[in-house]
Amino acid sequence: MAFPKTRLRRMRATETHRRMMRETRLSVDDLIYPLFVVHGRNIRREINSMPGSFQLSVDLIMAEAKEAHSLGILAVILFGIPHHKDEMGTEAYSSEGIVQQAIKVIKDSVPEILVITDVCLCEYTSHGHCGVVKEGHILNDPTLELLAREAVSHAKAGADIIAPSDMMDGRVSAIREALDKNGFEQIPILSYAAKYASGFYGPFREAAESTPQFGDRRSYQMDPANSREAMREVSLDIEEGADMVMVKPALAYLDIIYRIKERWDIPVAAYHVSGEYAMIKAAGRLGWIDESRVMMEVLTSIKRAGADLILTYFAKDAARILQREDR
Ligand code: PBG
Repeated sequence: MAFPKTRLRRMRATETHRRMMRETRLSVDDLIYPLFVVHGRNIRREINSMPGSFQLSVDLIMAEAKEAHSLGILAVILFGIPHHKDEMGTEAYSSEGIVQQAIKVIKDSVPEILVITDVCLCEYTSHGHCGVVKEGHILNDPTLELLAREAVSHAKAGADIIAPSDMMDGRVSAIREALDKNGFEQIPILSYAAKYASGFYGPFREAAESTPQFGDRRSYQMDPANSREAMREVSLDIEEGADMVMVKPALAYLDIIYRIKERWDIPVAAYHVSGEYAMIKAAGRLGWIDESRVMMEVLTSIKRAGADLILTYFAKDAARILQREDR
């Protein structure tokens, strides 16, 4: 039935109509809040290119996790900045590592919040790559063992979910096997399955001090032009035992989220990354866009595309807005 019998504007008349017709609802339950943890005490260092995001010392991370929990946020994901970086990224799998300390403190003080850990070497290696480097090459298979050790050490410290972000082939099965062997068969894996070699990670690398010292990540992260390859990545990760898969970044890759959601019944997460956050913050500060409105529009679009979970530096801001809307 066409116009004039049909008039779609009828159901847009008032906010009440629009609420009734709303197809996608963002919920605080969808949000995962990333945190950067550093050594030291009483450190709260704002990240230049990510206003409103901080590097926090372990003592302050506790308060941050409490605040997130009080806003209804169900999970945080931790990134560590070590004291000392070396060729093999040893602090990544040390029981005294920065992330291991942060996990314990959060689980002791806010046991209800789920602690997800990013498993990767780039924050811990002197060369800044996500794997073992030999003669300028990033080696796949020798890296798997280190990633498995890192995952087990996070689990031992109390991590609830393990999220490998390195993009080595075979890491999900290597990690699954190591977790199972160490009695952590209940710990799920959230795999960064389709992670692109993206310019949008710029601010994160400042935050995590993880810029590669030579070359770039294009030999392991995906080419932004590819989507069929993302399907293969996801299918392999599921076969290897991933419990959830992630697409990263989010906004420039909504088609990938959509395709994965159409094809598999596995929970899909999307990482609204640092550069996406920085662009909204910057334009908002200049008065060129309405920051909160654009933030909610973008997060809703990621959910509409099919994401069940959204990792975002806006988690607290969005949670506050959702609380207000609920009343
Ligand atoms: C580690 C990792 C990165 C991000 C998450 N995990 C950086 C990278 O791959 O260079 C980026 C997150 C963001 O930009 O917010 N490999």
